[in-house]
Amino acid sequence: METKEIKLPEYIYKEKYNIKLDEVAGQEKAKEALKEFIINPDKIPTILENNQKPLKGILLYGPPGAGKTYLAKAVGTEFKGNFFTVYGPIIISKWNPQSKPEIIIKDIFDCAKKYKPAVIHLDEIDFITKVNNENDIMNDTTRKMKQEFLNQMQNLKNDDEVVVLGVASKPWELDPLLRKCFQKKIYINLPKLNARKKLFELYLKNNSHNLTNEQIEYLAKNTELFSCSDIYNLIQEAIYEPIKKCQKVEYFKKIKGINGHEWNYIPCEQNDPDAIKMKMEEIKDPKEIIFPEVNFDDFKKVLGRAKPTMTVEEMKKYEKFEEEFGQEE
Ligand SMILES: Nc1ncnc2c1ncn2[C@@H]1O[C@H](COP(=O)(O)OP(=O)(O)OP(=O)(O)O)[C@@H](O)[C@H]1O
Ligand SMILES: [Mg+2]
Repeated sequence: METKEIKLPEYIYKEKYNIKLDEVAGQEKAKEALKEFIINPDKIPTILENNQKPLKGILLYGPPGAGKTYLAKAVGTEFKGNFFTVYGPIIISKWNPQSKPEIIIKDIFDCAKKYKPAVIHLDEIDFITKVNNENDIMNDTTRKMKQEFLNQMQNLKNDDEVVVLGVASKPWELDPLLRKCFQKKIYINLPKLNARKKLFELYLKNNSHNLTNEQIEYLAKNTELFSCSDIYNLIQEAIYEPIKKCQKVEYFKKIKGINGHEWNYIPCEQNDPDAIKMKMEEIKDPKEIIFPEVNFDDFKKVLGRAKPTMTVEEMKKYEKFEEEFGQEE
């Protein structure tokens, strides 16, 4: 498990993540399963005894922005062995017709076996099966990748101590053989009420705001169907509201500096005795501006025009997949 000497092909990443599993908002069932099957056992594949089949593949599936990659990174933070990440779109973008697709897949597995125990995190796994009818080379490529992936999974032995953590946002598009390589399928659903509240608290932590607990609860209640990314984007927009307000302001006052600045500027009314008529753009260093706190009205304004990425209709596809294949072993 010596990692210093690891020389990786350019498409395999071995990053240091810092996301504690317990700090991941919601997803309790998924966290439990990931702890049980990957993080806590001191050996993987985990189910070695009682003649059970070894666990070789776990699939995280769910709508975009729900936190699949984030959760995988949390596993990467907690897992004691080597955690290798491969992003589907990067493989495709680096693709050149001279390279051999099966070699890429073989390299990934060889690397994991060499530095066992290891997790191969294959993000956006559909790159292996994506079919593009307009492009024969790509079809041939994905076909060869898929075949090699199936071979590698088939040949994975207990003492290889390698498990594949696949991630898919459209699991129903996976080739059935590929789907079956993942004995455990974990649904990463959109954040529920409590998780949404936690997300608001988390993302607001480092921003100056004056929202009460009840107001945060209101926001959490009124963001059903919002993904983690949607909530993040909504907060970013709300945080921007005080800046927008300052852009319209015509008067600022200069006060003795805080935060290491000689002077700071605060927006004020025209009739303030210290008011200076000026525009925000005239302040050379934006860090000298003290922006008003983000407030509930800012949020209500942004919430009024925000829409979740997913619809109830689209979510049905995930529920159907869960019903059909969620228990598939
Ligand atoms: N449980 C969580 N707690 C805190 N932040 C989260 C959580 N889940 C997701 N996020 C944040 O939400 C954003 C989207 O998450 P992520 O990229 O993991 O989604 P995804 O399911 O992988 O989406 P996609 O299918 O589009 O790749 C990220 O910025 C991540 O930091
Ligand atoms: Mg992702």
